[in-house]
Amino acid sequence: MNNQIFAAPLAGITDKPFRRIIRQFAPDVSLVTEMISCHSLVGQHKNCIRNFDEYGDEGNIGAQIFGADADLMGQAAKILQDAGAKWIDINMGCPVPKVATRAGAGAFLMKDHVLAGKIIEQCVKSVNIPVSIKTRLGWDEAHKDWQDLVHVAHESGATFVSLHGRTRAQGYTGSAVLPQKPSNIELPIIANGDIKTLADIERVEKLGYDGAMIGRGLLGQPWILGVICGTCEIPKNVGEIAMQHLDLIIDYYGAKAGIPMFRKHAAWYSAGMQNSAQFRIKVNQITDEKELKDLMKEFWSL
Ligand SMILES: Cc1cc2nc3c(=O)[nH]c(=O)nc-3n(C[C@H](O)[C@H](O)[C@H](O)COP(=O)(O)O)c2cc1C
Repeated sequence: MNNQIFAAPLAGITDKPFRRIIRQFAPDVSLVTEMISCHSLVGQHKNCIRNFDEYGDEGNIGAQIFGADADLMGQAAKILQDAGAKWIDINMGCPVPKVATRAGAGAFLMKDHVLAGKIIEQCVKSVNIPVSIKTRLGWDEAHKDWQDLVHVAHESGATFVSLHGRTRAQGYTGSAVLPQKPSNIELPIIANGDIKTLADIERVEKLGYDGAMIGRGLLGQPWILGVICGTCEIPKNVGEIAMQHLDLIIDYYGAKAGIPMFRKHAAWYSAGMQNSAQFRIKVNQITDEKELKDLMKEFWSL
């Protein structure tokens, strides 16, 4: 598998604090940032500050951008290269209407391969680091033309492709189904979708894929990549990791903004544990740092 194990971009989740937690368990894996709009990046919009960072201290990290304007995408790619990204990933799979229909970006580029090619070319021209795309099988069941898009990506100078085994129409429903990788595909393809275990990785390896990318499998278990790569074991007390994560979030965003952001992580970390439903209800009401930490200490016996 060439050690090509990736943490997937997850908007609102794989921010700098979460990436730091993942990295602590799996120092050598590749991570991708949450998607960033080329418009907000180039225009330095305020809402972008949250997910635009300096990446120099983050190891092998790809910064993901989305947009439909080739020039702006090129400029955004350059900004991210200057911020320390090791490669640029272009979002060509996001199905949410704000991105795919209203902005003509993300998954929409699976419908417009000419524009997709122009965007890739402009990004490749603007940076001297690799450029990849992340896409899906196609727009819908009747248009599973991902191989054509891979061909365009290759012609336009992209270095590799991450492929989510669902169509845009499927969103996140049903199971991801990846076909055998055809032998005439010109680029390395990283398999994505419903991959959570070493057995899943071995399955996509047998299908001919060159790497594997894990998204939702990271929720509440950021050590999973490390366990798969053999660089860590499952932590004995999940609460210690949750507490560390909370501290990183508060350092990064401050307590007022950070505590509400941490709530979903608290739910994932505690899932399946005894009394977790009551714990979640209490977590969702707390706004004070000390109160939250006291509750976590009690719940996880820290
Ligand atoms: C909450 C959430 C946020 C996501 N954000 C992004 C994103 O910013 N960029 C992107 O390319 N894909 C995004 N995705 C898609 C994932 O990267 C991945 O392709 C998908 O979840 C399938 O992989 P998984 O089954 O391992 O989760 C997101 C998915 C979820 C559930």
